[in-house]
Amino acid sequence: MSVLVKSLLGGAVAGSLLMGATAVADEIAAGHVYDLGRPATPEEIAGWDVDVMPDGTGAAMGQGTAAEGEEIYMVQCAYCHGEFGEGLERYPVLFGGEDTLASGNPVKTPGSYWPYASTLYDYIYRAMPFGQAQLMTPDQVYALTAYLLYINFVIDDEDFVLSNENIGDIEMPNREGFIADSRPDAQPAEVCMSACDVPTTVVGRAAIIDVTPDNADDAPAIVLE
Ligand code: HEC
Repeated sequence: MSVLVKSLLGGAVAGSLLMGATAVADEIAAGHVYDLGRPATPEEIAGWDVDVMPDGTGAAMGQGTAAEGEEIYMVQCAYCHGEFGEGLERYPVLFGGEDTLASGNPVKTPGSYWPYASTLYDYIYRAMPFGQAQLMTPDQVYALTAYLLYINFVIDDEDFVLSNENIGDIEMPNREGFIADSRPDAQPAEVCMSACDVPTTVVGRAAIIDVTPDNADDAPAIVLE
């Protein structure tokens, strides 16, 4: 991109940033809209709204057993995580590690470390199989979660039906192993969610300072204010 075009674009970006939130609100109030984007549809929002809370809130309807999960696991997961969850090559270990967390070599697995079964469901649904995220149906993810709970001795019946109804009730071994961060700067502040007028001081603009020039020699030496 030429230096001229880049500088012009930089100017446009800086111009719109300079406008600020209040000015944008004024523009919208005055009926000046930008015709950018459109409201997300309920289906689109549902596609992103997949998180599951520790008590099971948000869990998709579905169910599965460890016995069913084992079959899926062998096809979809074992080639990275190993048939017994032992982790092949450098892929994560999914089994064992009890009583190692306080040792010099903590082995953090869903069994030894994770405080909630819902996180396991959430993570598998969201991210696995690695590289093909969200390939699995909720029923398959309940079955896989049940299987991982089973090989970690959290549940002892391979026919136990794990579902959206009971995923919040599973007692994980390390459930009490997490503490709230008591440092003063980690405490929740009141967060402004709408029409926020937060005082800010802009000390520089990346587009104008040109922190990532194509070529350091011909980067325009423009300094703001
Ligand atoms: C292609 C290899 C691959 C496959 C197949 C795969 N995973 Fe993974 N898995 C990974 C990698 C890599 C990570 C670590 C990802 C990260 O940390 O960002 C991971 C992480 C995980 C974790 C979190 C481990 C931890 O303690 O942090 C779980 C649970 C998991 N995988 C379950 C599954 C399940 C269930 C399947 C089958 C549906 C599966 N994985 C298939 C590669 C794979």
